[in-house]
Amino acid sequence: MKWTTQCEAAIGRGDKKIVKDIKAVAQEAHDLLIKMASWTEDVDSVMARRKIEMMISLQVHQRDIVNELASLQRQKQLTDVQDFEWTKRMRTYYHLEDDIDEDEDEEESSKTQHDKNGKCVVSIAETSFEYQNEFLGCKERLVVTPLTDRCRVAIAQTFSMFQCSAPTGPAGTGKTETVKDLGRHLGHYVVVTNCTEQMRYSHCERIFRGLCTSGAWGCFDEFNRISSSVLSVIGHQMQAIMDAKASHESSTLSFPGDKKMTTVHDMCSIFVTMNPDYACRNELPENLKSLLRPMAMIKPDSEAIAKVKLCSNGFSDFVGLARKICALYEFCDSQLSIQPHYDFGLRSICSALEMMGHEKRGNKDEPEEHLTSRTLRDVIVPKLVKEDIKIFLYLLRDIFPEQDDLDNRSLSSKYQGAVKTVMSERNLYADKTWTSKIDELQNTLRIRHGVMVSGPPGTCDVGA
Ligand SMILES: Nc1ncnc2c1ncn2[C@@H]1O[C@H](COP(=O)(O)OP(=O)(O)O)[C@@H](O)[C@H]1O
Ligand SMILES: [Mg+2]
Repeated sequence: MKWTTQCEAAIGRGDKKIVKDIKAVAQEAHDLLIKMASWTEDVDSVMARRKIEMMISLQVHQRDIVNELASLQRQKQLTDVQDFEWTKRMRTYYHLEDDIDEDEDEEESSKTQHDKNGKCVVSIAETSFEYQNEFLGCKERLVVTPLTDRCRVAIAQTFSMFQCSAPTGPAGTGKTETVKDLGRHLGHYVVVTNCTEQMRYSHCERIFRGLCTSGAWGCFDEFNRISSSVLSVIGHQMQAIMDAKASHESSTLSFPGDKKMTTVHDMCSIFVTMNPDYACRNELPENLKSLLRPMAMIKPDSEAIAKVKLCSNGFSDFVGLARKICALYEFCDSQLSIQPHYDFGLRSICSALEMMGHEKRGNKDEPEEHLTSRTLRDVIVPKLVKEDIKIFLYLLRDIFPEQDDLDNRSLSSKYQGAVKTVMSERNLYADKTWTSKIDELQNTLRIRHGVMVSGPPGTCDVGA
């Protein structure tokens, strides 16, 4: 809120002073960021750390916006607060109940906000959402990239036009997460439903009914898995909800073929995410096509995301490292053989970054390049097939030429002893490949929620 007011004050003042004012805001944002980065070093609890990480990612975003605004002003492309370059951002205001004027003065509001009732309003482009005050816990926030910004503007516009947003694109581009994150920003509850071929229209009707009465947002993940005949009925149900929302007089509706009346809350909305590439996906019926507004989410800005995540984990050379990590994943994607279980997308980059943060907290004095290359090797090698390991190590050495000990992976000393004891107790032969696989499994278990051991029969996967 403070940041929005500061920026608007700086933009709204006109003439040459703007640039100076924006610079002052930028400097303040930058100073705050450096201060925050130092906080991460001495927190122990997971909650506190997550909170600081979240604040850092928001702060980085605000700093970047301010810098961008400053350069736009220099080129005379931004002159007042109504410019799209500014309004496309997510802005937060505090509106007093009897206040009609949007651009209120900060001092005035701080004087009076204790005496009057007010509400917090989040605006994106021309749409304003009232903050919903729903407690959603201390969750991780997304890094706001240009793609996220674009997606938010599109969601806001579809919301105001009583349509449903449909982020579309390959897996792991942040479709589901962007919708959830926007909900978190608005303090609004988002229910995610994973759609399957077995879903019937009666299931959806029950979910829609809940969404309408509570006003929550519903995100139907992988929507085009549902079979075409069911989709066409769902299309009618969604159309009925949107019509009820659009006609302000009647806020109740009865679903097609059912007499029970349901009240429709203003805030309720439906999102669907789709992945057109998978096999067995169904074509959408015409009535749904007109209701859904597709948004292409093809390529996530992985480097920007990696940068912010590294920065919030206390890495100092986050720019260079982020570039190297993303380059490595891109090479892996293009150079290694094609296997059904390989995934070098954003999802695996995120889990590698999480592991790096974990390692960084454990080994504060280790050089960052070494720590990064070691962690990348530990995260990626376990899932590679034998032929690819050699190629991968070449790639890794190319990207981190100064690190010369990348081939010698030693068992972490903590488990080495334990593994040996158990092996001798059970009269097993401690083969080197096998013990290193056990170590890899242990490492993978630390960062993943679920692990799948795969391989041909007779490779001792259960025994390990
Ligand atoms: N802007 C972002 N900042 C941080 N992480 C992101 C961002 N976008 C996506 N991710 C991460 O990428 C992963 C995949 O996102 P998800 O929304 O599940 O993809 P999709 O629904 O497109 O398959 C998640 O782990 C999420 O945390
Ligand atoms: Mg998804």
